[in-house]
Amino acid sequence: MDSEKKILAKYQSYFEKIDQEVEKALTSRVSLIEEIGGHTLLGGGKRLRPLFFILSCELCGFHDEILYRLSTIFEYIHTASLLHDDVLDNANIRRKKPSANHLWGNHAAVLEGDFLYSKSFCVAVEAGNVSFLKLITNTTTQMAEGQILELLHTNDWNMNRDMYLDIINAKTAVLISAACAAGGILSSADPKEIEALQKFGHLVGMAFQIMDDLLDYTSDQAVFGKPVGKDIREGKITLPLIYALEGMSDEEKKLIQELFEQREPSNEEYQDLIDLVRRNGVLQKVQSDAQKYVDEAALCLDGFPDSPARENFLELNRFIIERHY
Ligand code: FPP
Ligand code: MG
Repeated sequence: MDSEKKILAKYQSYFEKIDQEVEKALTSRVSLIEEIGGHTLLGGGKRLRPLFFILSCELCGFHDEILYRLSTIFEYIHTASLLHDDVLDNANIRRKKPSANHLWGNHAAVLEGDFLYSKSFCVAVEAGNVSFLKLITNTTTQMAEGQILELLHTNDWNMNRDMYLDIINAKTAVLISAACAAGGILSSADPKEIEALQKFGHLVGMAFQIMDDLLDYTSDQAVFGKPVGKDIREGKITLPLIYALEGMSDEEKKLIQELFEQREPSNEEYQDLIDLVRRNGVLQKVQSDAQKYVDEAALCLDGFPDSPARENFLELNRFIIERHY
C-alpha cells in the first residue's frame, strides 16, 4: 500500500495541474451541474488517464500550453461513463463516497454524465485536430458498444474468456489506449510510434480491468473504495468466475447455474460462490494473465529512446498490477 502511495506521490505536481484544469472547465450556469460535478470529479479518482495523456505528449514532444486542458477530456469521459455505469449497476458507492445516483437520483446522474461527456467534446474541439477528434469519438462509440455487450451478457453462464476480453477492451482499454496514443497524434508522430503507443495503452487497459475484476474478489471495501463481490451480484461473469467455472464438472456448473437462474440468490449463496472462486486457485491464474499484459505492454515502448516520460510510463505500467484500489 505504501509503495503504491509513493509511486503516485511522485506525480503530485502533474495531478495538481490536472485538477486545476478539471475544476476550471467544470463551470456551468446551472449550479446543480457544478455541485454534482464537484462531488464526482474533485477529491477522488486516480487521474491515471489524464496522466497517461500528458506522458504521451511528453514522450512525443508535444508541449503546447493547452496540454493540461486537453488532459481533462480523458477524466471527463471516464467520469461520465462511471456516472452512467453507477445508474446501470444501481451502485451506492463510488470512489469511497456515496455515488451521484444515490445522492441525486438516476435522472440527475445520467444528465450530469451527458454534461461531462459533451464538455469533453467541447474541449477536444479546441485542439483543432481532426485526427484527434476521430480518436476521441471512436473511443466513446466503442465504450458504449462495450457497455451494451456487457449488458447483453449479464447472467450469461456461457460467457467465455474471448467474449470477456472483447468487453473489457471496449469498455475500459480503448480509453486508456486513446490517452496513450493522443500525444502521438497531436504531435504528428511516425504512424509506427502512434501504433506502439495505442497498443501499449490497450495492453495496460486490459491489465487494469483484469485487476479491477480480480480485486472485486480479493480486496476489501475500505481499500478498494467500492463494495467487493459486487460483480457477481450484478450478474457480471468476469475472469475469476470464468476460470472457476471452466474447472468444474458439468454437473457442478449446472447446479450453480440453476440456483442463480431460478431466483434471486440470498446473500449467503452469493458469498458461498465468491468463497468458492477464492478457494479455487484461479486467482493466481488471473493475476498471471494481468502480468502477461503488463509485460507485453512494456515491450511496446522498446522503440522509444530512453527519457523520463518513457520511464514513467513503464513505472505506471508496473503499478497497474501492484495496486490494491
Ligand atoms: C466501469 O466498469 C465502467 C466502465 C469502464 C465503462 C462504462 C461505459 C459506459 C457507461 C458507456 C459509455 C458512456 C460514455 C458517457 C462514454 P465496471 O462496472 O467494471 O467497474 P465498477 O466495478 O467500478 O463499477
Ligand atoms: Mg460498474
